[in-house]
Amino acid sequence: MLDLSVTLGRLRLANPILVASGTFGYAREMAGAVDFAKLGGIIPKTVTKSPRAGNPPPRTVETTSGMLNAIGLDNDGIDHFIAHHLPYLRTLPTAIIANIAGKTADEFVTMAAQIGREPGLAGLELNLSCPNVSGGLDFATDAAMIHTIVADVRAVCPLPIIAKLTPNVTNIVPIARAAADAGADAVSLVNTFVGIAIDWRKRKPILGNITGGLSGPAIKPLALRLVWLVAKNVKVPIIGVGGISTIDDVMEFLVAGASAIQVGTANFFDPSVSARLVDQLPEALKTLNADRVADVVGKAH
Ligand SMILES: Cc1cc2nc3c(=O)[nH]c(=O)nc-3n(C[C@H](O)[C@H](O)[C@H](O)COP(=O)(O)O)c2cc1C
Repeated sequence: MLDLSVTLGRLRLANPILVASGTFGYAREMAGAVDFAKLGGIIPKTVTKSPRAGNPPPRTVETTSGMLNAIGLDNDGIDHFIAHHLPYLRTLPTAIIANIAGKTADEFVTMAAQIGREPGLAGLELNLSCPNVSGGLDFATDAAMIHTIVADVRAVCPLPIIAKLTPNVTNIVPIARAAADAGADAVSLVNTFVGIAIDWRKRKPILGNITGGLSGPAIKPLALRLVWLVAKNVKVPIIGVGGISTIDDVMEFLVAGASAIQVGTANFFDPSVSARLVDQLPEALKTLNADRVADVVGKAH
């Protein structure tokens, strides 16, 4: 009998397949398409302290090989999340990892304390990396700031803490190290890559926000490299995310050094993909004569 469970710091999951924040709504939307019990966990859309309307439209554009989005953290705020979404989410037969973004370090800490008092959550992911919100990018490009936020959040919130980092930096290693040193249970690598789409006939950018974040299969090799790099240089459990849509993608991230993965954009073009990847995982592990997921993590190094 294969053991699909994984442990990342204090976070224990039934299996390593999660769904990524912002690509699965608050799960209600996906109830008809996905057997939640199969998933390792669900990360609902980022919530902020106050409700946010998000960026002006258009907010998404399809590129030759990937999706560019600039949603801008459109959400109804943390109080609404706790009153309206969490009562539903905590009934689901899988781990729920809330995801928050603050405009300031203090906002992260206040929100983490508030979330930490709520029952029924398996962990808290800090979106330190949204490329579409002013301020959001600054956090994850500054190792000292990441250290402060993660350490202060840990001091007020008993949940396992995951720091979600941006790939839009010169060197991600010191940033991941800062998160680890501050006590993050894991790092999620990565958020979207900043890009731009232009309508040359109109002589203007297509997205209302001008720039957006590129996601989907196009970014997989880029995300895989960052997972590889952090796995090689920092002692911290990694959740790989970026372009994952097949069981081969999942296995590549695991052997590159991720202990778990998140499925993002693929949920949009194939809503049942995450549960199917869980079904396919035992066979892939058997191919490597592994009894447990941990047996293959980082084995490409
Ligand atoms: C439409 C859209 C909305 C997203 N919203 C969020 C969000 O609210 N919070 C967050 O942490 N990441 C958000 N992301 C980033 C994804 O969680 C993920 O990190 C990224 O898309 C890379 O993975 P993928 O290529 O599998 O989509 C969003 C991505 C997309 C495409």
